[in-house]
Amino acid sequence: MNLLAPYRDLKVREFTTSWRSPANIAFVKYWGKKGHQLPANPSLSMTLKECVTETKVIFTPAEKLSVELKLAGKSETKFAEKIHKYLQSLESDLPWLKRLAFQIETKNTFPHGAGIASSASGLSAFALCLAEYMEKDQHFYRRASFLSRLASGSACRSIYGGFTTWGDDSDEYASPLKVHPELSYLHDAVVIVSSAEKSVSSRAGHERMKEHPFAEARFVQAGKNYQLMKSAMLAGDLEVMGNTLENEALSLHAMMMTSPDAFILFGPESLRVMAEVRQFRRDSKIPLYYTLDAGPNLHLIYPPSVKAAADAFINSLGLSVIFDSVGEGPVKC
Ligand code: PMV
Repeated sequence: MNLLAPYRDLKVREFTTSWRSPANIAFVKYWGKKGHQLPANPSLSMTLKECVTETKVIFTPAEKLSVELKLAGKSETKFAEKIHKYLQSLESDLPWLKRLAFQIETKNTFPHGAGIASSASGLSAFALCLAEYMEKDQHFYRRASFLSRLASGSACRSIYGGFTTWGDDSDEYASPLKVHPELSYLHDAVVIVSSAEKSVSSRAGHERMKEHPFAEARFVQAGKNYQLMKSAMLAGDLEVMGNTLENEALSLHAMMMTSPDAFILFGPESLRVMAEVRQFRRDSKIPLYYTLDAGPNLHLIYPPSVKAAADAFINSLGLSVIFDSVGEGPVKC
């Protein structure tokens, strides 16, 4: 189904809307693309609750496409240029974009420099505004996910609350996954090891998978891990979920470390926390597992039944932490 085709001949008009959209953490990682912004393997993620972006967009008819963007009240040309390029990339399907001026006001609830990627929350919030400008019909969320994917792959999974898959039902948009009640509420404590900017962007990282000697093996492994993870989530098997989660985090970073132009995004502090988490789990039998995004910070995942003991351990690490959990997905605000 071409989700944009019905909107090719839309008339431009004044319109204002705002959406709040969350970040997500991948349990099975998307790393490597095919075709036009399609994933080389399926992925599965948990949508967060506290780490969100709130975005207001004012659409005004104009002579040509323009984008003004304020992040937390300050003009941000870099992000405005990114959105401008993104909108230009949609012009062949949506020619009316050429006749709109966009005024965007956006802010993140998570602290700047927390090492949490704002692209999934930020670009999904913008895509929701654009999808609503088109129509709020029964395909609205699917269209918003499709539009998010074209801006940043992982953003397409932020459109739904709970758990989300991408590259299983469809490569073009994400779908919600209803998991076993035992695993439907999980905590994610984001342990901040470093808040420095990433040295290699995700875009460049995906690109490096094209020449990667282990790419094919990784896509096969990711496919298997996806099936394992999905079955574990449906069956409520915390141990298989946790072991697969850690395997995915290490595999993602192994890809970075063995790519033709190799790079390493974590350091000794990340390794210390990974080792301590494993030791704590062995000693206490408490199911606390780690994952990493494309960066050095750890996401520690655990169920509510062990919250007190897990939080005490996490606080003892001596690092700053954002205590988050599974969230219900975007809201119009
Ligand atoms: O959405 P992108 O292009 O920034 O890629 C993100 C990839 C990872 O965050 C590393 C993994 C994932 O699936 O979210």
